[in-house]
Amino acid sequence: MKKATITGWGKYLPPNVMTNKDLEKIVDTTDQWITKRTGIKKRRIVDDDTTTSDLAIKAAKQALDKTNLKAENLDLIIVSTVTPDMVFPATACIVQDKLGANKAAAFDLEAGCSGFVYGLSVGAQFIESGLYENILVIGAETLSKITDWEDRNTCVLFGDGAGAAVLQPTDKGGFLSFDLGSDGSGADALYLEAGGSLNPATLETVKNKMHYIRMEGNPVFKFAVKKMKTASKDVLKKADLKIDDIDLLIPHQANTRIIKSARRRLKLDKNQVYVNLPEVGNTSSASVAIALAEAKDKGKIKDGDKLLMVAFGAGLTWAATVLEWNENI
Ligand code: UT7
Repeated sequence: MKKATITGWGKYLPPNVMTNKDLEKIVDTTDQWITKRTGIKKRRIVDDDTTTSDLAIKAAKQALDKTNLKAENLDLIIVSTVTPDMVFPATACIVQDKLGANKAAAFDLEAGCSGFVYGLSVGAQFIESGLYENILVIGAETLSKITDWEDRNTCVLFGDGAGAAVLQPTDKGGFLSFDLGSDGSGADALYLEAGGSLNPATLETVKNKMHYIRMEGNPVFKFAVKKMKTASKDVLKKADLKIDDIDLLIPHQANTRIIKSARRRLKLDKNQVYVNLPEVGNTSSASVAIALAEAKDKGKIKDGDKLLMVAFGAGLTWAATVLEWNENI
């Protein structure tokens, strides 16, 4: 059975930068508080006319350019997002059309900030089963559009962006294991409550600001600290590996305190963990995808390296994978 691996990677961050100082002018916060409690210094924010699919397409084109593929060779496009262009059709279908991927099936996947790693696992299964060969997995978000800019508990955390990966079959290396999970009893810790069947959009839902992200930071923090460690251990065990075998950890970028705690609990060195959170904030399902593309472009991933990617998010969900990077498929 062939394994799946990543042969193309890309990212796109919109040009508008919002700093902590900019946020000080909007809500009752300080650069010092945000830096100390989260590690975030700035984030990118789209303009009003830019959609999630716009970001996704830019990241996807970059990823495809790294491969020998054209868009029309793609068999499947998976877009992981909590900020689709519309409730339906799937953002993946909009991406499929605009890329000219005229042979590709397309669907969206929603697993909160764990979505990109969930997407990698779905894509890998299609390749391992032999059904498809060329798959594009995208994590893309315009979180600024569902952010309550009067809520200091959330608006300091999030940013916009997209990352993409092309998956193809390989004889060597590739995805060695996945660990996915969910705990829906924590659904009320992180949610957007209106616009679905529970609370269809009305004047009341808009007036009551129910179309924005709401979060209980503390329970999510505790969940994250625990799951970053247990999911990492579980996914390593499934691959029959030890933490010493890992060259680089690419964690979901939500809070440097969470990342630091995972690093310490896993006993990894600082230079074995890729962190871009200070520059981009929490981009939800785009976060691991952007970090992966950046790490690769900065020369931090070499042939044969073993990467551990681990994420957590709304659901609550978690997802981890071990990937043995292979340059020569
Ligand atoms: O991708 C998954 C998405 N979510 C997460 O990963 C979030 C995980 N949680 C976290 O990262 C942290 O819980 C936060 C960064 C959200 C909050 O940090 P915390 O250390 O858990 O702070 P807290 O919520 O316990 O709040 C401490 C204090 C409170 O004031 P009082 O009640 O002690 O007077 C807050 O009102 O900090 C206050 N506070 C702020 N102060 C200045 C909350 N947000 C802010 C702010 N600026 N932006």
